[in-house]
Amino acid sequence: MDESLRIGFGEDAHALAADRPLRLGGVAIEEAPRGAVAHSDGDALLHALADALLAAASAGDIGLHFPPSDPAHRGLDGRELLARVRAHLRDTCGPLRVVNVAAVITLDRPALAPYRDALRDSVAACLDLAPAEVNVAFKTSEGLAPDHVQARVSVLVRVGPAEDADVGTPP
Ligand code: C5P
Ligand code: MG
Repeated sequence: MDESLRIGFGEDAHALAADRPLRLGGVAIEEAPRGAVAHSDGDALLHALADALLAAASAGDIGLHFPPSDPAHRGLDGRELLARVRAHLRDTCGPLRVVNVAAVITLDRPALAPYRDALRDSVAACLDLAPAEVNVAFKTSEGLAPDHVQARVSVLVRVGPAEDADVGTPP
């Protein structure tokens, strides 16, 4: 790819059910009364982030590269999925450097504000970014979607030949 800035956007949602863990951004939300119903670990934030990175590279979506029908992906940790997406992009698109991440999680309960720093630090660590390069905002659905968790993620990515511009290599 030519040197340029590229935007990516991703979204993911899961139904919530009792006796399931809730993971967001690689962080276990211990107070959650219900967790995501999913084939993988149901980490909506990391799945939306993976799709946003693929979108920035015009490289499809995670279902294209990691079909949910493949038993190899059962219970796959969102951090591992994200690492595989980064490796794929490095191999196919060349150097890619995330400039910043802007995420929104919609969840009615529990309040996620107590996890604000943990989520930001975890997402930043997944991408070898500084925490200041990541924002994770929270919204309720105002009761309109109490049985779902949803994440929406925008990324800005710098594509180009700079030596340090590699999404798969720590800076
Ligand atoms: O959805 P609403 O606009 O009422 O959310 C108000 C604030 O509550 C948000 O800006 C966020 O800081 C916080 N919030 C939260 N955890 C959630 C949903 C919202 O901490 N699950
Ligand atoms: Mg509101």
